[in-house]
Amino acid sequence: MRRHLRLGVNIDHVATVRNARGGRHPDPVRAARLAAQAGADGITAHLREDRRHIADDDIERLMRDLQLPLNLEMAATDEMLAIALKHTPHAACLVPEKRTEVTTEGGLDVAGGHNHLVPYVKRLGDAGIRVSLFIDPDRRQLDAAKAIGAPVVELHAGAYCEAHGAARDVELSRLEKAAAHAAALGLECHAGHGLSFETVGPVAAIATVVELNIGHFLVGEAIFGGLDQAIRRMRALMDKARADAAGERSA
Ligand code: PXP
Repeated sequence: MRRHLRLGVNIDHVATVRNARGGRHPDPVRAARLAAQAGADGITAHLREDRRHIADDDIERLMRDLQLPLNLEMAATDEMLAIALKHTPHAACLVPEKRTEVTTEGGLDVAGGHNHLVPYVKRLGDAGIRVSLFIDPDRRQLDAAKAIGAPVVELHAGAYCEAHGAARDVELSRLEKAAAHAAALGLECHAGHGLSFETVGPVAAIATVVELNIGHFLVGEAIFGGLDQAIRRMRALMDKARADAAGERSA
């Protein structure tokens, strides 16, 4: 089990607040610098087709100013591919994107439409960008991700986070099984979407998950206690869950 679980802080919604007034404050690049000091291992930003939060200039400034690796979330479109190839961030996460959605509603249908994704995975990979596919915790999607040569998958944790009681246990078990299957296939496994202080522990405890990407909750929580404090607490909860799980396994 890899002990250190990486935390990617998604800064999209700092930009959402900025864009509500159209000025420069709050600046997502400043939030990224602060996240680095608070214990983030990477920064994640989703450049959407409609630029509803992160803007092109944010990506330029993140690439120029930031010491941490940038994970660019993007739809598999020629426009986004050109932007990724121009900036060559450390990583790119391919996500499905619908104009009318409030947030990324589900994972990519890699199994159903993989011919579309193949050139994107290849061209990003050839440029030295680590490619991940955002998918539901579903064996078919994992098998398809492997088949098209993606080295990394990010499991959509939204259904787990939204469920309650026994239904949440079912969703957690889906994540656990998918993470185990990813490891068996030799895929690096990440998880994200909807994670909070309440939901992060059991996902952090999954031994084969090596990175969590978390945004909306942290930015929301920053309103009450500051971004630094929110990230530090999330980091501590992740580390504790990881250490406890490792202790149980070796006992
Ligand atoms: N991972 C991916 C691929 C996402 O699309 C998102 C949302 O942009 C996240 C993680 C972070 O989700 P949240 O903002 O709910 O923490």
